[in-house]
Amino acid sequence: MAWNSDKTIIVTGGAGFIGSNFIFYLRKKYPDIRIVCPDKLTYAGNMTTVAPLLNDDKFRFVRLDICDRKGVYELFDEEKPDIVVNFAAESHVDRSIDSPEVFLQTNITGTSVLMDACREYGNVRFHQISTDEVYGDLPLDRPDMLFTEETPLDPSSPYSSSKASADLLAMAYYRTYGLPVTVSRCSNNYGPYQFPEKLIPLMIVNALNNKSLPVYGEGLNIRDWLYVEDHCRAVDLILQKGRVGEVYNIGGNTEMKNIDIVKLICKALGRSEELIVHVEDRKGHDKRYAIDHSKLSSELGWKPLTDFGKGIKNTIEWYVEHREWWEPVISGEYQRYYEKMYGERT
Ligand code: NAD
Ligand code: TYD
Repeated sequence: MAWNSDKTIIVTGGAGFIGSNFIFYLRKKYPDIRIVCPDKLTYAGNMTTVAPLLNDDKFRFVRLDICDRKGVYELFDEEKPDIVVNFAAESHVDRSIDSPEVFLQTNITGTSVLMDACREYGNVRFHQISTDEVYGDLPLDRPDMLFTEETPLDPSSPYSSSKASADLLAMAYYRTYGLPVTVSRCSNNYGPYQFPEKLIPLMIVNALNNKSLPVYGEGLNIRDWLYVEDHCRAVDLILQKGRVGEVYNIGGNTEMKNIDIVKLICKALGRSEELIVHVEDRKGHDKRYAIDHSKLSSELGWKPLTDFGKGIKNTIEWYVEHREWWEPVISGEYQRYYEKMYGERT
């Protein structure tokens, strides 16, 4: 199915990692649609990521906090969107352990403000980007167990609790107001433009700078890795063909131990594994995430297309070739964050 020039889509949080990849994906696939990107530009939002789009008259960037009801309503009034996809969030577990409040504000209140605006301006189609972390975690010794959409919500961190709350609100808006809502819960994304506080880009950037590679605990925790482009394709399909009122899991079929990823990055960059240091574990550290995405596959015909070997190679090459993107990002405020998070841990 194709969207044409009369469609307007609001992509919140589009100056962040997945939102920006989604905007690039949309622009390429649907050259005529209008894309509007409200983003607060927190530490995680980066104008240089979206800068190449600023000359495009079918793209508009607005610096806006999704909790700002007046500003959000004004934007809806001006743009009359057909679809809203909400990527805007505080997204890092470690920061949520340190300071939960902003997570509740943005991830819960902000989502409800957006959905109120959707109700107010013509029952606009709303898609909430959620996470597999809302299901809590799985044991390391039960590879047969996977998260399905029926797995009870059991979040562990302030981050995942705030995301679970937003999911519940989205479903409540569907049931109570008939708002056409879908929710997707994806596993750990990786790819270009990811802020280097998350495992993969942090390890690549540190290795490139010959800095130590801080692995929490033994590094035996398992994540399922999803290449960001595969995620974008899944969201597109859900917007086109998904059933409203439904939740869809999105996974990469790639379970990896953290330590194995870090070793792989060392090898790819020709760095010694002696850079690896085992640091104090994360509080309440989720052991394993693993996704059953058979609902999305059987209903909408989606499957991940990028195998991890290819995806991680692309990602490493991107960081090698885009120092000008991440060097400014890791100066200043990020350095203070890094000292605070890792200085006391070793
Ligand atoms: P990110 O931290 O890279 O980007 C978040 C973006 O949201 C930034 O541009 C930031 O400026 C913006 N933002 C934050 N608060 C805002 C506010 N109040 N108003 C407007 N904009 C605001 O995050 P990401 O990794 O791209 O994640 C995007 C979404 O995907 C999030 O909802 C996250 O929970 C979800 N998710 C991410 C992953 C992952 O592996 N990265 C996995 C599962 C789910
Ligand atoms: P992260 O990228 O923060 O994603 P999430 O916690 O949402 O899964 O972390 C991925 C895994 O890597 C998680 O088990 C924590 C671990 N980790 C480290 O070992 N060291 C680090 O410096 C970071 C940021 C994460």
